[in-house]
Amino acid sequence: MHKNIQFRITKDGAHTLYIPEMDECYHSMHGAINESVHVFLQAGFSYHTLTSVKILEIGFGTGLNAILTMIRAEEERRPVIYHSIDIYPLPMDIIAGLNYPELLSGIYKKIFIQMHEASWDKEHEITYFFRLKKILADIQDYEIQDHYDVVYFDAFAPDKQPELWLEGIFTKIFHAMAPGGILTTYSSKGEIQRRLTRSGFIVDKIPGPPGKREMLRCIKKN
Ligand SMILES: C[S@@+](CC[C@H](N)C(=O)[O-])C[C@H]1O[C@@H](n2cnc3c(N)ncnc32)[C@H](O)[C@@H]1O
Repeated sequence: MHKNIQFRITKDGAHTLYIPEMDECYHSMHGAINESVHVFLQAGFSYHTLTSVKILEIGFGTGLNAILTMIRAEEERRPVIYHSIDIYPLPMDIIAGLNYPELLSGIYKKIFIQMHEASWDKEHEITYFFRLKKILADIQDYEIQDHYDVVYFDAFAPDKQPELWLEGIFTKIFHAMAPGGILTTYSSKGEIQRRLTRSGFIVDKIPGPPGKREMLRCIKKN
């Protein structure tokens, strides 16, 4: 469990959370919503051509990637099954203080809270086009059981949590992806790129979100 979590406002007005003991934020200070939309929705979910998509997220956190994906799934009438792993769920008093529903539109407040209150390790129909399963597990020893089209790799930064950016974890994810699957991450470090390549992915450096020159998009070729 993370302690002494603090709220921070990022450049696009959206909250992020700061963890003092790690000296790390949940999102980019250059804009939490901008980063999420750019790295995970644009480069991952919307880049995939399938009409219905099964997504795995590493790090559920605030649920920002989840709610943004839900909104897009509804807009595009594109069914999504969204599985997200986290080992340190955030307490509800922190969730209730996040400004995402207000920024995105107050109508999402109820759904946002519903996503967080949904029981773990069970799939829930959140909306017609969006089903959510939160998996309470440590990605280091979790045996991934499904096959996914898109992976949002959103762990804390490699220099803060190096144990999550290992070749063994990428290889495990690679084997749990469907042919043509896409993994995106905000990191563009050379060593991370090499580990992803050795795991089997075709890795591309593509333009990053505001404040970041590059990010990685990895494809599991058919
Ligand atoms: C950068 S934050 C994720 C942000 C999140 N995607 C969002 O939209 O707010 C990283 C997340 O990884 C989780 N985490 C840390 N270590 C983990 C582990 N070993 N297994 C699974 N999740 C872990 C943290 O609790 C945190 O929620």
